[in-house]
Amino acid sequence: MNTTQNAKAFAAEKAVSLIESGMKLGLGTGSTAKIAIDLLGKRVAEGLRIVGIPTSQRSAEQALALGIPLTNFEETPRLDLTIDGADQVLPGSLQLIKGLGGALLREKIVAFASDRYLIVVDESKIVSELGGKVPVPVEVVEFGWNTTVERLTKIGARPVPRRDAAGALYRTDTGNLIADCFFEQIKDAGRLEIEIKSIVGVVECGLFLGLKPEVIVGTLAGARIL
Ligand code: 5RP
Repeated sequence: MNTTQNAKAFAAEKAVSLIESGMKLGLGTGSTAKIAIDLLGKRVAEGLRIVGIPTSQRSAEQALALGIPLTNFEETPRLDLTIDGADQVLPGSLQLIKGLGGALLREKIVAFASDRYLIVVDESKIVSELGGKVPVPVEVVEFGWNTTVERLTKIGARPVPRRDAAGALYRTDTGNLIADCFFEQIKDAGRLEIEIKSIVGVVECGLFLGLKPEVIVGTLAGARIL
């Protein structure tokens, strides 16, 4: 494991240690959430009784392979705790950018259905200002996609259509497309979220605000909670 992986593992370990038998969980997406799901699988194999709602097809496949029982929102409308990663974290307000892994829509639905929201990151995700090199992923329906992307430029974004490894437009688990929207600096994330979501054709954006996450930061020396 390299140092970043070690730091992510410390954060994931701390988060998984907070899980108790009987809990209903949200299972995040991304490399840090993947470590947490692996650790959760070990605890389930040792007898921990939980159920989980995955935020992506790949997290669902990973969980099933580890024997983690899955549920859905019809059976389980409210979750005790969710563990997920993030792409940027603003300390203080604890505003987040998420979705570089492409799962932002399901991740946000799961986040808002959770009583506790644990974000596991390494220190590189902590920033003094949102935006810059990290885009805000915006999930857009395919119909009229180019017109939606054009409207995103009108609110100051530099949108870049996300592509998969083969060069085709990236498809989310819900079948939508993603425009990665770069902003030089995001001064008022609340206002920007409203502007983005007012655009016809936009399904969701990667600004995660007002969720009061408990941010667990993995470092080389262990984990600390912001
Ligand atoms: C996926 C996400 C991920 O949580 C985010 O991209 C962080 O991933 P990683 O832990 O691999 O850095 O939002 O949609």
